[in-house]
Amino acid sequence: MTTRHVGVVGLNYWGPNLVRNFDDLAKLTWLCDLDAKQLAQIGSRYPDARTTTNFGDLLADDDLDAVVIATPVPTHYALAKQALEAGKHVFVEKPPAMRAAEMDELVALADAQDRVLMPGHLLLYHPGVLKVKELIDKGELGDVLCVYGNRVNLGIVRSNENALWSLGVHDLSVILYFLDEDPELATAQGSASIHAGIEDVVFCFLRFPSGKIAHMHLSWLDPHKMRKMTVVGREKMVVFDDMEPERKVTVYEKRAGADGELFSGDISIPKIETTEPLRRECTYFLELIAGEHDKGKVARDGARVVRALEMLTTSLNG
Ligand SMILES: NC(=O)c1ccc[n+]([C@@H]2O[C@H](COP(=O)([O-])OP(=O)(O)OC[C@H]3O[C@@H](n4cnc5c(N)ncnc54)[C@H](O)[C@@H]3O)[C@@H](O)[C@H]2O)c1
Repeated sequence: MTTRHVGVVGLNYWGPNLVRNFDDLAKLTWLCDLDAKQLAQIGSRYPDARTTTNFGDLLADDDLDAVVIATPVPTHYALAKQALEAGKHVFVEKPPAMRAAEMDELVALADAQDRVLMPGHLLLYHPGVLKVKELIDKGELGDVLCVYGNRVNLGIVRSNENALWSLGVHDLSVILYFLDEDPELATAQGSASIHAGIEDVVFCFLRFPSGKIAHMHLSWLDPHKMRKMTVVGREKMVVFDDMEPERKVTVYEKRAGADGELFSGDISIPKIETTEPLRRECTYFLELIAGEHDKGKVARDGARVVRALEMLTTSLNG
């Protein structure tokens, strides 16, 4: 595969993880952050990369193939749009836009420019999530009836993003990936007890045209740290638990007793790969640039997530 020139913008908490991976997998040629101190600190670890506080410097470099965006969510749309207009491939942290119309615009722009627009939905590259999807698609669980996610803990309570946008975007991307349909109903209720107007606890309910339903419990105010998704099929149920060091995926058989009572049958733990999801995600981006896989699909799947987020936000605000 041709070695691509990659620049990363946004170098505070998450950006350095992307920097580390793209430095290994590609040629890291630019590092960019508005904060000169942060830029100097990360820049000192990668002396071969040029540093700048001006995003325009990356766009003006004709040798730069791709831009990786790890800035705060409200900046994603504008930065991604500028990068696509400059003819760069774009990896942008989740979600790439805060409104469905803006996301549709980015998808159309990427298509018109024949460039990759990949949203950073990390869990879609997690071997455990891929295993659950494989079980669903092979029909191992029987018809899927419902999916629910718990993403709760006592954590960083962000002052500019609520639990739906910060935590829920992960589960939502997985639910939509598992079910492969858009919800016809998406409702959310929440409360903001720390920062006024920024919900720290949110409960979401989604219903799909096929009749399947999904639920998400998202919270920064919980005594337990849970990163769990459960898929209930007509025949089997599967739990993906990212807090488990080894037993990430567990499959439960469902048995029916003579009196109609349901009880658990055999329990199995499928073997899953141990590759770091972020490494797989970054590799996938470079493969998309190289023409492997369907680049339109990752962008359209990202748009599906933003549409559902918008529906949930409308309900939450209502
Ligand atoms: N995939 C994951 O698991 C995961 C985990 C954490 C964060 N994230 C995502 O990563 C992104 C960054 O999160 P974070 O927690 O690192 O944010 P952060 O606010 O800690 O850091 C953002 C950095 O971007 C810089 N920045 C802002 N606007 C800029 C601009 N126009 N040009 C250049 N630099 C700019 C800021 O100076 C700051 O250093 C967010 O979209 C977040 O949702 C993803």
